[in-house]
Amino acid sequence: MNPLNPDSRKEREPYVVTSKGHTAVAINAAAKAGEWIKSRQGLVKELGTKTSAQDLVTEVDKGVEQMIRRLILTHYPDHAILGEEGVEPGDEAAAAAITEARKHEYLWIVDPVDGTTNFVHGFPFYCVSIALVIRGDLTVGVIYDPIRDEMFVAEKGKGAYMHGVPTSVSSESELAGSLLAMGFPPDREFAQPANMAGLQSLLPQIRGIRAGGSAALHLAYVAAGRVDGYWEVGLKPWDCAAGVLLVLESGGKVTDTLGRAYDIGTCHVVASNGRIHEDLVASLKEADATGYKL
Ligand code: IPD
Ligand code: CA
Ligand code: CA
Repeated sequence: MNPLNPDSRKEREPYVVTSKGHTAVAINAAAKAGEWIKSRQGLVKELGTKTSAQDLVTEVDKGVEQMIRRLILTHYPDHAILGEEGVEPGDEAAAAAITEARKHEYLWIVDPVDGTTNFVHGFPFYCVSIALVIRGDLTVGVIYDPIRDEMFVAEKGKGAYMHGVPTSVSSESELAGSLLAMGFPPDREFAQPANMAGLQSLLPQIRGIRAGGSAALHLAYVAAGRVDGYWEVGLKPWDCAAGVLLVLESGGKVTDTLGRAYDIGTCHVVASNGRIHEDLVASLKEADATGYKL
């Protein structure tokens, strides 16, 4: 190639970005975002609400999402980004955004702060969640907890890791010996009764339950074998896309609350080590706690 002749550029081999490149971008963005969020804990200036008084948003959620968008687009200007703060609040707008997002070959799904209520209260359990979907396939999932400096990374077909150490789900096979996690989205009309029914049904059958306030971190904890399973009715893709890949690549199972395969449009999610999955789904169905009309 002649560097002085611009036409000779045509002779160059096209640069193929590998999935490793995608993952590196996700890790870098999550690390920068996480540091920023942690540095602002206790210093929130603008506390706003979205769909209800319980649905919080701060200038940090918005600013961090902008930062992540800029970082991703610097590397991949033609990729699409579905970020929580870029979508109008409410289920209808989210459904429309998901339909639009499905059209894109390369789709990043971003939750800048998962666990905003915790962040606002100084409860140190929140994270950044970034996933990449390529032609409909969840391909990269990164979740960063800036408080514990834990970076969970999954690549489709290549496993899941936390700081280079493979993560794997637990081996518990009985609900009776299980520690589960769950959550309560801000919606109190539809999601809260369903999640309360699930809690009521499962708590007496298991060892214990945690509702830590970050869906993404709970999924990362299923992947890491720290809890045996997790479910929640009323999620959005940015809450769970990255965590779903982490669980799958750690040997676990993820379905909707009726036991059907996960898709980015799935809002009612069950994730587990696989061994307790059937029992978990059966209990939710029996308690009419799936979020679906049966
Ligand atoms: C919320 C958290 C919470 C879960 C809710 C989510 P946000 O996300 O993940 O644990 O129960 O369903 O909406 O609003 O903090 O990003
Ligand atoms: Ca979230
Ligand atoms: Ca969020």
